[in-house]
Amino acid sequence: MSNGEKIQYDYLYDIAQIRKIIEGSENIVFFTGAGISRESGIPTFRDKDGLWKMYDPSKLASHSAFIANPKLVWDFFYSRQRLVVQADCNNAHVAIGKFEKIKPERSWVITQNIDRLHQRAGSQNVIELHGNIFGIVCLECGKREQYNHDNFFKNYSENKIPVCSICNSILKPDVVLFEEQLPVEAWGKAVQLSTECDVMFVIGSSLNVSPANTLPYYAIKNHAVLIEINPNVTEMTSIMDFSIRESASKILSNIFDLD
Ligand code: APR
Repeated sequence: MSNGEKIQYDYLYDIAQIRKIIEGSENIVFFTGAGISRESGIPTFRDKDGLWKMYDPSKLASHSAFIANPKLVWDFFYSRQRLVVQADCNNAHVAIGKFEKIKPERSWVITQNIDRLHQRAGSQNVIELHGNIFGIVCLECGKREQYNHDNFFKNYSENKIPVCSICNSILKPDVVLFEEQLPVEAWGKAVQLSTECDVMFVIGSSLNVSPANTLPYYAIKNHAVLIEINPNVTEMTSIMDFSIRESASKILSNIFDLD
């Protein structure tokens, strides 16, 4: 058996095991990162063609960067919004959305992503740990506005910095920048769901960023089965029960019969 066939055999064997585990499970968490949206044409952060290989996050995606130069940060987020507007969900998002439709009380997504592709694929049980790219917040008066991929640019245009209609302050993308805290409610819910799940999929995350990368440990405390799907080894591959070296859309389509 060639090496390729052995890898093929191994993950097919794993998939058969995983399907049995899903049948017997009560609460499933899909913990996702940038890798799940890569096949939708949205770059990750730390892959060789990742955003942080090309740009300095401390200049473009931190709180102090926003205060120092809001135009620069907005231009960066406008360009990412454009990419998300042009993107489509892929089979990984669709498979998770499909599973939630079948088992709504048993399926939650906890995502680090700000692209809302899970919601576009039909997922409703979604916790956004890092906010989302079509939300806007006023740091002065706290006003929040929520748009989506097909109406954001009907309300805001790229060559202007958004300004608050209440207090005239500059608005900020409602995403969690470096140096900022995660939304308290979202984090609380994420910890609760992770602590109560019996299966946690860890999909497309390098698990480099905290506190999000502590969620698998909450699941372990509940003796949950950890299933990693990632073409590359990650910081926590050694603690996973399964770690499949393949793309998210290929494996999730297979596990949830999307083929
Ligand atoms: N399918 C599954 N995983 C993939 C795929 C794919 N098709 N392509 C790449 N990956 C994996 C990479 O191997 C990598 O481990 O996705 C992971 C992406 O890791 P990061 O770029 O570090 O993204 P993420 O873990 O989501 O980053 C966490 O960091 O920059 C901040 O706020 C930002 O939410 C982000 C956080």
